[in-house]
Amino acid sequence: MSSETSLPRHIGIIMDGNGRWAAKHGLPRAAGHARGADVFRTICRYCEKIGIEALTVYAFSTENWSRSKDEVDSIMNILRRYLRDAFDLEGETIRVRFIGRRDRLEKDILSLMEEIEDGSRDNTGLKLNIAVDYGGRDEIAHAAREAAKMVLEGRISPDDIDEDLIDSLTYTSCCPPLDLLLRPSGEERISNFMLWQCAYAEFVYMDTLWPDFTPELLDKAIEEFNSRNRRFGGR
Ligand code: FPP
Repeated sequence: MSSETSLPRHIGIIMDGNGRWAAKHGLPRAAGHARGADVFRTICRYCEKIGIEALTVYAFSTENWSRSKDEVDSIMNILRRYLRDAFDLEGETIRVRFIGRRDRLEKDILSLMEEIEDGSRDNTGLKLNIAVDYGGRDEIAHAAREAAKMVLEGRISPDDIDEDLIDSLTYTSCCPPLDLLLRPSGEERISNFMLWQCAYAEFVYMDTLWPDFTPELLDKAIEEFNSRNRRFGGR
């Protein structure tokens, strides 16, 4: 990266292409997800190293439950296995949060998520949001429900429901606005990821499958981000 490069403050990544990577190598899909989890760890460390403020990754969507039971189990097992290792909390500076629904996950995964969130609560480095059982529409519906409760409790009036309030009720209210949304694997869709937060994000699509993704490719995406003229709806 050149010294003139300005960094996006918040990057979102759709970690796509694990299945195709596995097929290409004659391996079961679970092997693609396992390799994807290794790359996830490398990219988190790299974001931390270069000073990215926030990173949000899509690990499991509200729609992914419709995959075969074997595949859902393999992704959940990877979460069990990798999360503990990846955030060996001693000496860590990454602050981890999980975003998404919490009512459909197995109890042991939930406990592990809470353990990691609690253990990293005081960390001041990269803000890492891991989206598990996450959907952008579900997140907006959740924010609307919370706002409705506030009205019912008499804490606000309906006219107080504005963009700032909804923003404060999203799962990423802790973080700066999303600057860069990155999707590897050649797909060019948003797939229900960070719909609210994408309002002024720059989209960068890349052909590489997620398990082949590297820090050099992240640098390239950041260079591309730097070449864009962001006008935020103005001139
Ligand atoms: C999309 O690829 C990927 C997923 C649905 C799972 C992503 C999960 C990981 C990278 C591992 C777990 C992550 C953490 C945080 C430890 P796909 O299966 O849709 O690939 P395809 O489009 O090639 O079939």
